[in-house]
Amino acid sequence: MDSKTLSSVAKAIVAPGKGVLAADESTPTIRKRFDSIQVESTEENRQRYREILFTAQDIERSIGGVILFDETLRQSAKDGTPFPTLLSKRGIVPGIKVDKGAKALALYAGEKITEGLDGLRERLLEYKELGAQFAKWRAVIGIDERDIPSPFGIRANAHALARYAALCQELDIVPIVEPEVLMDGGHDIERCEVVTSQVLEAVFAELDAHHVLFEGMLLKPNMVIAGMQCSRQAGVEEVAEATMRCMTRYVPAAVPGIVFLSGGQSAEKATAHLNAMNATGPYPWEVSFSYGRALQAPVLAAWKGEENNAFAAQHALTKRCRLNGLARDGAYAQEMEREE
Ligand code: 13P
Repeated sequence: MDSKTLSSVAKAIVAPGKGVLAADESTPTIRKRFDSIQVESTEENRQRYREILFTAQDIERSIGGVILFDETLRQSAKDGTPFPTLLSKRGIVPGIKVDKGAKALALYAGEKITEGLDGLRERLLEYKELGAQFAKWRAVIGIDERDIPSPFGIRANAHALARYAALCQELDIVPIVEPEVLMDGGHDIERCEVVTSQVLEAVFAELDAHHVLFEGMLLKPNMVIAGMQCSRQAGVEEVAEATMRCMTRYVPAAVPGIVFLSGGQSAEKATAHLNAMNATGPYPWEVSFSYGRALQAPVLAAWKGEENNAFAAQHALTKRCRLNGLARDGAYAQEMEREE
């Protein structure tokens, strides 16, 4: 393990003003996104869509890394440049989603465990040759008002995350460790804070036990937020305060950056939350983003699968990247949404 490489790549991804574009939708997930705009999910359409994203103007100003899916890591732009090379040339670090998805956790009704550890060392070696410098593994933690997640469900997912992170660092690949407590459900923000705290405590205990170098990883957590069906939705300031209290208590200062997922929040809400968190800093780690839907929803809506809309789609991405870049400094304001 080369700790210097790991920590310099991790820091580059969350350099000031920068965050991550999560464009690593698996084949079933991108099909869902394309269905929403009535576009058929063919390999050609997926290539075209990803090329629109990766060639959008100025995104390198606020995007330090892009997470790719296996198929995309192997694809090229129209001019023949492999996507990882195209991104590297723009100063954006290419990364790869390496988990194989969350499956039912046997004998624990309603809970999930992420698969993909078997053969992971060999897959990581190949991904590294293809240009990936960081990786992502997502654990999915369901939440209800009382029984879910169980202590065992938390432990099992934390263990898998740590096994994955150690395998990455062995090959000098920066692991993004993503324990996602879902936003689905009727639970309140207080319950989300309790569960997120338990999850982070377990994750860092396992990472430590597996000898994972905190300086050479990034954490991708959920924000502390009420469930989508909860009747009391917390305001932006309250989410920022609860999230930063939870992170300050449970994330070691040696971790270079926290890159939040958007998890189903609207694009504007996700930016507002990031902004509010940065407005109360400084914190020991960079407070940044690794958004999928919150960066791409406006792009898909503008594109609709039409070549003629490619420029408008890119414009939508450039705008979201710029606004999230500003939110990294607490310099975003809602009025900016009206600017072109
Ligand atoms: P969202 O921001 O849409 O939650 O996606 C981020 C991600 O990569 C989930 O694994």
